[in-house]
Amino acid sequence: MTEQLSVVVLAAGKGTRMKNGIAKVLHPLAARPLIAHVLSVAAELGAARLVVVLAPSMEEVRAEVERCALDARLAVQDPPMGTGHALQAALDELPRSGTVLVLYGDTPLITAATLEALVARRRETKAAVSVLGMAPPDPSGYGRLRFEGEELVELVEERHADERLKREALCNSGVMAFDAARLRELIEALPLREDKNEYYLTDAVALARRRGWACRATEGPWQEGLGINSQAQLAAAEAIFQDRRRKALLEAGVVMRAPETVHLAADTVIEPGAFIEPYVVFGPGVRVAAGAVVQSFSHLEGATIGERGSVGPFARLRPGARLGEGAKVGNFVELKNATLEAGAKANHLSYLGDAVVGRRANVGAGTITCNYDGFGKYRTEIGEEAFIGSNTALVAPVRVGRGAIVGAGSTIVREVPDDAVGIARSQQTVKEKRASRMREQLRRRRDETR
Ligand code: UD1
Ligand code: CA
Repeated sequence: MTEQLSVVVLAAGKGTRMKNGIAKVLHPLAARPLIAHVLSVAAELGAARLVVVLAPSMEEVRAEVERCALDARLAVQDPPMGTGHALQAALDELPRSGTVLVLYGDTPLITAATLEALVARRRETKAAVSVLGMAPPDPSGYGRLRFEGEELVELVEERHADERLKREALCNSGVMAFDAARLRELIEALPLREDKNEYYLTDAVALARRRGWACRATEGPWQEGLGINSQAQLAAAEAIFQDRRRKALLEAGVVMRAPETVHLAADTVIEPGAFIEPYVVFGPGVRVAAGAVVQSFSHLEGATIGERGSVGPFARLRPGARLGEGAKVGNFVELKNATLEAGAKANHLSYLGDAVVGRRANVGAGTITCNYDGFGKYRTEIGEEAFIGSNTALVAPVRVGRGAIVGAGSTIVREVPDDAVGIARSQQTVKEKRASRMREQLRRRRDETR
């Protein structure tokens, strides 16, 4: 029997323990906001309804939710008074049957498989509440699960837990699945914790027990339940996420000799058979095709690397960088909104912005596109098989034609047509036998002034 699943994501907390004024759920994990990780798992579950609880004036969080989950309903908790109060704010949006799964916006490593198991267990056991427990190496800060035999009887916040419970009990990941039919009664009965002026969602377990309703727990991998309250926990979650993604890429056939030094974004796509050397950083929006090589100390963001493309070492690819098949970008080359078509090369010390470089064209060392005049951005076009001599400045908008040659050291301000040679530098003068005379003069001048 399929029954309706609703998911509620609690994200109204201020995140004061992050100590920087940035909304906690907007902190990035692998270049994607925490809330986006949670919403993507919610989408995987295919819930019939998704509700996100926010505090007033969380405009940026609201925008992020709307960006990742168009169908999400927003509930506002005004003012936020605890996790139980947050779920109360969502009640109007929730159906009275099926399962209501509660996720925390600060618990981004949770997976759909673990949640599906929790929801299935709640359904099978007909429990009023089913809680995801875990045994993290550092349990501090988490609530604890108290059992009597098989029965989960209470969730105890750490501050109220005795030493034995703190030492031995499973921790509360915060993920809870409720029987929607009995949820309202529990939420409406939550007591106000006067010392904190909060309603704890965790108190729902003891309330259910008092009504004689069964509560259950399943244990999940502690990594998935990692809650982020501090910068240190965010860094710990990042390490776990990176490890997970690297393993998946290795498993799929990506070659990395020092995977622990490769930093990935949540959306990084690397095809099997690509080579990633040590110390490479991927920002958001990167795709690397099979057979491509990204050499050490390169930084990529919003970039697409075609088959057998080659990047680095020490390359910087900014948004809109595109390398066609076999194209090559070498050391100290920066690309921004620039395409190198198949077989094109920019091997050393260049900046190419707002540019298209045609097939098999060669961009010499030190070539710079002057794409910005302080007001507008302009395009540079370099034709197929063109050759740009070293240390050329291409003042955009400008076009160098197919097969054209630009002499080294040129400042190109107007079109170099197809097959033409463009040279724009002052003439060289050579004065025969002048060097020794010049040295003599200079020496005399120095000695006179001593
Ligand atoms: C909570 C649990 C604790 C559990 C831990 C797991 C309670 C009382 N405690 O503690 O048992 O071990 O999570 O990580 O639930 N939020 C709101 N509105 C509020 C307060 C919080 O939406 O008024 C949201 C936050 O944005 C956050 C989540 O609820 O995403 C958890 O809140 P947080 O304050 O971090 O709870 P913990 O102290 O970690
Ligand atoms: Ca938390």
